[in-house]
Amino acid sequence: MVPPPPPPSPLESDPDEMRRFGYAVIDALVERQRGLRDDVPWRGGSRRDLEPLLREPCPEEPGDPDAALRRALTEILPRAGRIDHPRFFAFVPSSPTWASVMGDLLATGFNVFQGTWLESAGPSQVELVVLEWFREWIGLPEGAGGLFTSGGSAANLGAVVAAREAAGHPERPSVYFSDQSHSSIERACRIAGFRDDALRRIPSDAAYRIDVAALSAAIARDVAQGRTPVLVSANGGATNTGVVDPLPELADVCEQAETWLHVDAAYGGFAALTPRGAATLSGLGRARSVTLDPHKWFFQPYETGCLLVRDPADLQRAFHVLPEYLQDVELGFEHVNFADRGLQLTRAFRALKVWMGLQVHGRRAHADAVDKGIELGDVAEAALRAAPEIEILSPSSLGIVCFRLRPEADGVPWPEERLEALNRGIQDTIVAEGTAMMSSTRLRGRYALRLCILNYRSTAADVRAVVERVVALGRERVGIVEG
Ligand SMILES: Cc1ncc(COP(=O)(O)O)c(C=O)c1O
Repeated sequence: MVPPPPPPSPLESDPDEMRRFGYAVIDALVERQRGLRDDVPWRGGSRRDLEPLLREPCPEEPGDPDAALRRALTEILPRAGRIDHPRFFAFVPSSPTWASVMGDLLATGFNVFQGTWLESAGPSQVELVVLEWFREWIGLPEGAGGLFTSGGSAANLGAVVAAREAAGHPERPSVYFSDQSHSSIERACRIAGFRDDALRRIPSDAAYRIDVAALSAAIARDVAQGRTPVLVSANGGATNTGVVDPLPELADVCEQAETWLHVDAAYGGFAALTPRGAATLSGLGRARSVTLDPHKWFFQPYETGCLLVRDPADLQRAFHVLPEYLQDVELGFEHVNFADRGLQLTRAFRALKVWMGLQVHGRRAHADAVDKGIELGDVAEAALRAAPEIEILSPSSLGIVCFRLRPEADGVPWPEERLEALNRGIQDTIVAEGTAMMSSTRLRGRYALRLCILNYRSTAADVRAVVERVVALGRERVGIVEG
């Protein structure tokens, strides 16, 4: 007698149920996107509210998938920023296309292990192809390559480690970056083992670009004292201001000092797809490594970062380790094992979402959407300049503009603390009433409101409405205070 088949694992799902549940999730995602413009751009929640709602013992027994989905949709997911809302102008927005979200889902569903060619030949080839597109767009020479990473921070870490190894892991290294560089550079240096005394924060000039003369002087001083300059990290769109460092001059300095030039273009790199962005980023292709972050301005879901290096062998040198249990995966240099180029052995197939977005919408639509972001930054600046009580703290650059209300009393500007309280109050109101999500920063110690406009759904009307509201609130408050 044939024994009955063993019962399926309780972790198995029935195909009909998979479809039903899967479609319910897709429906929820589509409804969310359809309602996005009418939703608030941000909603938070205090720990005090969320603890009783979500704290619970882990379920021991199976539960109802529809109930779990309902809870996710009502109790969890709405209490967060809608980073892709057309009026989310805080921090760095992100607005993935549906095609790339589906690419991500597909990669997850196929459970691709993108660490070695042996386990993912087709996906590895696609990663090579997409990286090659990026390489061409930013003007790195043929032969440059790299890998997709979880984000810009991981890419910057990869560059710092690769530069350290290329310099021979010196005893007394020094690393240079501007006072406008993203915190992930300093963090990467720390992880890579550089002590504080090896880090050189070079001042930026009045336009927030690194002071090249100060950099050259710092390098010369360090060399004279027996230090080895390991890396200069330049901004290809600083997070605060969108400003790009003078890349050609930095390339000259690095060439002369035989030092690795890294460009952190996590924020602004994809502006190279547009003529005016390419002009702003001129010199990018002379870098030895470049960080890009497609989950910022290339319409990809999180986590999609990227590191490109002029010579991928620099990454191999820094990251390749071959344990005996992976002896089967070495198929030769041509068959790239992406695990040998970075931190992760187990890696998701991130290139698929980018590839899918480009297959569906094409490069030009992506480039046009990036250009629109640059344009909307200019629209914001023009609208702000129309109000005499607004002070522009950094003009529109790659979709970012920083400003503040700066009223005067009898021709004398308010003191800084009072200005900060006024601007902070306006920002709080804009966010609380749901007009927009905005965030602030500090420029030369001054509290600055900051608009960052990268979403392909945002319009000039969105931008003008937010500026008008900021100005109206300012006038209301100044009137109240003064009155
Ligand atoms: C210039 C720059 N570099 C690096 C990062 C870090 O990128 P990620 O958040 O993807 O790790 C950011 C994030 O905003 C950034 O703006």
